[in-house]
Amino acid sequence: MTNITLSTRGATAPASPIRALAALARAQADAGVTVHYLNIGQPDVATPEPIVQAYRDFDDTVLAYAPSDGYPALRTKLAAWYTGVGGLSRTVHADDIVVTTGGSEALLFAMTAVTDPGDAIIVCEPYYTNYSGYAHMLGIDTVPVTSTAACDWQVDAAAIEAAITPKTKAIVLPTPGNPTGRVLTHEELAAITDICVRHGLFFICDEVYRELVYKGPRGSRAPSLLDVEAADELAIVIDSASKRWSACGARMGWLVTRNTQVREASLRFGQARLSPATVDQYAVQAALDIPADWYDDMVDEYRHRRDVLVQALRDEGLDVTTPHGAFYLAVPLPVEDADAFCRWLVSEFTLDNETVCLAPLSGFYATDGAGRNEVRMTYVLNAPTLKRCAQILGAALQAWPAATPAPA
Ligand SMILES: Cc1ncc(COP(=O)(O)O)c(C=O)c1O
Repeated sequence: MTNITLSTRGATAPASPIRALAALARAQADAGVTVHYLNIGQPDVATPEPIVQAYRDFDDTVLAYAPSDGYPALRTKLAAWYTGVGGLSRTVHADDIVVTTGGSEALLFAMTAVTDPGDAIIVCEPYYTNYSGYAHMLGIDTVPVTSTAACDWQVDAAAIEAAITPKTKAIVLPTPGNPTGRVLTHEELAAITDICVRHGLFFICDEVYRELVYKGPRGSRAPSLLDVEAADELAIVIDSASKRWSACGARMGWLVTRNTQVREASLRFGQARLSPATVDQYAVQAALDIPADWYDDMVDEYRHRRDVLVQALRDEGLDVTTPHGAFYLAVPLPVEDADAFCRWLVSEFTLDNETVCLAPLSGFYATDGAGRNEVRMTYVLNAPTLKRCAQILGAALQAWPAATPAPA
């Protein structure tokens, strides 16, 4: 084979730092080591029975394509759900929704609808690393604004405004945040909206963890950009079945926008890939009947896990801020190179034949060299396992200096 080459985009696509250590972890597991996976956001919370039952009940004689933007029945029910269990104050219409293959495809559609190659989006680092993956595919730049643990991972609206250039087309922010757990207030969403209005930018607000907030009474939800009236023309909200219903494998998501041009562009992208999955849409329809209590119990469980993990890490002498939402912790470690530490931890270190797989945080930053000593941990496993993981990490940190090769 001669003269056959990948595109530059294909050849230089970044590997996801979330999955980077998977092969090393698998090798350890094959060798009989118990590996605790705190590197990916795959909850162990049981998928609610109505969802599982919907798959069992599926009995169409043909597994057909669905409409490119999703079944109208699903979009209608979703729209009503937003102002019901979803807790929104403002109405969403079925036609504001495009059903996608996970929130991931919703992100891809949103970013593709509002940028051209050479354009830029502003992100607040550390940020959900797959924003970079899509930016790379689309040939656009991610321009970072940095947040820090010392400031409780606050988003600085003035810094966002200062980062805008003529190439900027959108601000992309998750709330609650991955990997920081940051939850934006209604006022913060409104302030960023104001910047977008003044500079003619879209605001892609990634709300896939909206129920997972730990302050406030049962039933609290993270404020939504859909409740900010001034954002109606520029808001694209990303949503998903994955986390709220512990249904990552359903690969069901959707975007919500009141901007008809964005909706129509997304629909055309949807037509190019023909249809979102069929059976999974029935499953999401069933999920929309899950009572509010179920969410409250899930949030209580994650809050408990968060508290146990934060305390256990502090007991190991680590300086950890308490996240307010989602199920991630960004943790600074007393090491210089968290990438090397995580590789060593999962491939060489064991405590009573157990080890932990973590995600190095450097890949969640766009600034070169940032986050080099930080890792992301997920609290998606049960509380005793999380406590054990903290002990393993503590023991590994004690052993690490000895394991580091002496400088040449
Ligand atoms: C912030 C954020 N947005 C979007 C997604 C995409 O999720 P999915 O494609 O499973 O809906 C994830 C997954 O981890 C996420 O953390």
